[in-house]
Amino acid sequence: MAKINRNYLKLPGSYLFSTIGKKVREYEAANPDKKIIRLGIGDVTKPIAPEIIKTLHSAVDEMGEAETFHGYAPDLGYAFLRERIADFDYKTRGCDISADEIFVSDGAKCDCGNIQEIFSTDNRIAVCDPVYPVYVDSNVMAGRTGEYDEERMLFKDVIYMPCTAENGFMPGLPKEVPDLIYLCFPNNPTGAVMKKDELQKWVDYANKNGSVILYDAAYEAYISEADVPHSIFECDGARECAIEFRSFSKTAGFTGLRLGFTVIPKSLTVEGTQVHGLWARRHGTKYNGAPYIIQRAGEAVYSKEGRKQITEQIAGYMENAKIILNGLSEAGYEVSGGVNAPYIWLKTPGGMSSWEYFDYLLENAGVVGTPGSGFGPHGEHYFRLTAFGKRDNTIEAIERIKKL
Ligand SMILES: Cc1ncc(COP(=O)(O)O)c(C=O)c1O
Repeated sequence: MAKINRNYLKLPGSYLFSTIGKKVREYEAANPDKKIIRLGIGDVTKPIAPEIIKTLHSAVDEMGEAETFHGYAPDLGYAFLRERIADFDYKTRGCDISADEIFVSDGAKCDCGNIQEIFSTDNRIAVCDPVYPVYVDSNVMAGRTGEYDEERMLFKDVIYMPCTAENGFMPGLPKEVPDLIYLCFPNNPTGAVMKKDELQKWVDYANKNGSVILYDAAYEAYISEADVPHSIFECDGARECAIEFRSFSKTAGFTGLRLGFTVIPKSLTVEGTQVHGLWARRHGTKYNGAPYIIQRAGEAVYSKEGRKQITEQIAGYMENAKIILNGLSEAGYEVSGGVNAPYIWLKTPGGMSSWEYFDYLLENAGVVGTPGSGFGPHGEHYFRLTAFGKRDNTIEAIERIKKL
């Protein structure tokens, strides 16, 4: 008789975005004349840059000619893309990463979720609280987290690292040593960043204790300050303890096109085994690669014109972030993030819970954001707004909030 993976039954319902959707639909039905502004879900709104569209068209045409048709992609991804990544994202930043340490994929979510497969189920994981939910849920599915404690809203065997206003939304080095440490900077949802000397402490800690850092740098392109590292491989010793995830989703608006990559240095070994080889084996067995046309589009992101166009897009989103950050500060809110990240993290006023503030904002301003408690218990009394909206909507949303 077939049996299911009972670990899936430990997952509490993922109600966050479905509850938000339901509340918004109900409000819209009851108030058909009111315009709702959505600054909740972290999806981009700007279209793909013209240089990338041009490349997509010509790659599509190539697929229609026998001489230029492409079938299955190489396991790690096309060299034309991996070499661009190695040069532009790593060598220019002084990171010793070569093209054959880069695995192209269809996005960071899959890689962040799948990476745990190559590690033993005995490993203890550590995550920030609040956290991007994929890291925890994928480990629940694998049976690495123990049972869910409904009251504390936490899994019993996970090491949670609270990120609060008191610690500047920066996790402290855990006393109980984890085997796998998930870090995400610039952070979703708080928008916080780790300076290079702070990140170096994590690398040293991991090397001292034999831990592996799983570093999610999906928002790296939004960094504006000089002392914030774009890659964990800017730190000494990271080649011996870290894996890095990157995404084209927020860098170049590829949320619908799908492209990302994972970097595993060949010098990263665990129990004497090269982790790169394990991921290569997994990739080769379970994945058939991102489409040729999308990898060509990814290559165009690194072209002179492509870079110029996506830099303008990111600057446009970060202008929204500034509007939100300044507007909310003027209105007396405690706000953070929004300088090196497209997320603004605000403390709910008057001690409201995250969901109370969600309802309050929807009903009184017609603005939709994301309740911080949806990202973990330490997100309670916080709220996330994104800079990915359209400019006029962002301005209007902030004007409405200021009038409350
Ligand atoms: C922290 C973080 N990592 C990864 C992802 C997923 O990226 P992708 O679209 O490449 O799967 C997201 C998307 O919201 C994210 O916020």
